[in-house]
Amino acid sequence: MWSEPSPAECFVERRRRLATRLHGPCVLGSGIARVRNFEGNRFAFRAESHFLYFVGRHIEEALLVFDAGTVTLFVEPPDPDDALWHGPEPSLEELAEQLQLDVRPIDEFSVPQGAATLPPGDVESSLWLEEVLGRAVEAGNVAANELDVELARVMVEVRLRHDSAALNQMSQAAAVTARAHRSGMVATRPGRREAQVRAAIEAEMTACGMIPAYNSIVTVHGEVLHHGSSTHLMNAGDLLLVDAGAESAEGWASDVTRTWPVSGKYSGVQAEVYDAVLASQLAAIAMCRPGVRFRDVHRRAAEVLVSGLCEIGLLRGSPSSLLERGAGSVFFPHGIGHLLGLDVHDMEDLGDLAGYAPGRQRSDEPAERYLRLDRDLEPGMVVTIEPGFYRIGHLLGGPPFAAIADAVDGDKLAALSHVRGIRIEDDVLITEDGHHVLSADVPKQRADVEAAIAG
Ligand code: GLY
Ligand code: MN
Ligand code: MN
Repeated sequence: MWSEPSPAECFVERRRRLATRLHGPCVLGSGIARVRNFEGNRFAFRAESHFLYFVGRHIEEALLVFDAGTVTLFVEPPDPDDALWHGPEPSLEELAEQLQLDVRPIDEFSVPQGAATLPPGDVESSLWLEEVLGRAVEAGNVAANELDVELARVMVEVRLRHDSAALNQMSQAAAVTARAHRSGMVATRPGRREAQVRAAIEAEMTACGMIPAYNSIVTVHGEVLHHGSSTHLMNAGDLLLVDAGAESAEGWASDVTRTWPVSGKYSGVQAEVYDAVLASQLAAIAMCRPGVRFRDVHRRAAEVLVSGLCEIGLLRGSPSSLLERGAGSVFFPHGIGHLLGLDVHDMEDLGDLAGYAPGRQRSDEPAERYLRLDRDLEPGMVVTIEPGFYRIGHLLGGPPFAAIADAVDGDKLAALSHVRGIRIEDDVLITEDGHHVLSADVPKQRADVEAAIAG
């Protein structure tokens, strides 16, 4: 399998869609590569997603300019000195032909009067864009300029529902992610390090022409929601939480989590909790269809999880009153999911403009403050569905736990010491009449996971 490009026509159509909605000119910068110890030694470059969406190539220091019905790409012309080190680059004429776009040398660029932009997430690229535009550009803060906020709203309209080329890219990324997770399952053994599993996962991505869409989480400490390192030795009683997704060469992401037993077999208590999380995830996925409010999907997932925790004897009482007392946020302290697209948390560089429908705001309540999406679902959106169960030290010792302590069976909680964190995450496309799980090939039922580990 190999990361295949999208046809040039899809980018022409995307540029047309943006151009017809714009209220004035705009300049989208691709960004600059971050230098390591000297100019020639750089971190891998990935273009800004708002640029990539319309161009499909990671071209450094390029500007895509929409102005009065015209679209022009300004780039550095190829430099013969660079060709010596990095090989030949296409001429501007060749690039224009390939991209079906007017391509000009960057020294012909002048800032259109009143041009809006979208700030890159990193400081270096923002400083570069600030210099190019001759006005302030604050990294990761679109709210600093009213013109830019208006452009951000238009961009959300254009990028929220994915076209068929985007869905093809995300399906490719999900297919590679399925291979990667299977390789990770096969590589898991007591006595090995987490890093060996991570290497097996990321090797599969590399072999398919892809990269990780975000820092892979491969850890026996799943209670740390986004554990960054993979240095631990794995023991037979551990569960390994793997949150890893491939990104296609054009930048489209997948985002998948599975939690599997290092021994190859879930223990009795691990299986009980795994099945409670799985029931919550399946109930949430089953709700996904156009018109459904995502906050209700989150609430349903919490309700099914808490009911499951009652059934296995960890909690006592009625699930609805336990939820009211905050049981959801003690054991499942994050949101059910988020938008997925060119970025793993798609368009979160625009704050909550993409994730929250106009008129809706993030709640301060512990059960919902990390909910990144509260829109009514629409065909073409891709969302993640990722409930989890975690035994998090500071939550189990703090006030939220005190509020439900009398409903918790202490012996059962102690028996779950080898269940530190379980998350199950899939990528779900909303279709006209329901949904389609893009990541369905990643083993998920316990028997399928155990069979995949056995190889
Ligand atoms: N991989 C990050 C997340 O699931 O949101
Ligand atoms: Mn996610
Ligand atoms: Mn994830």
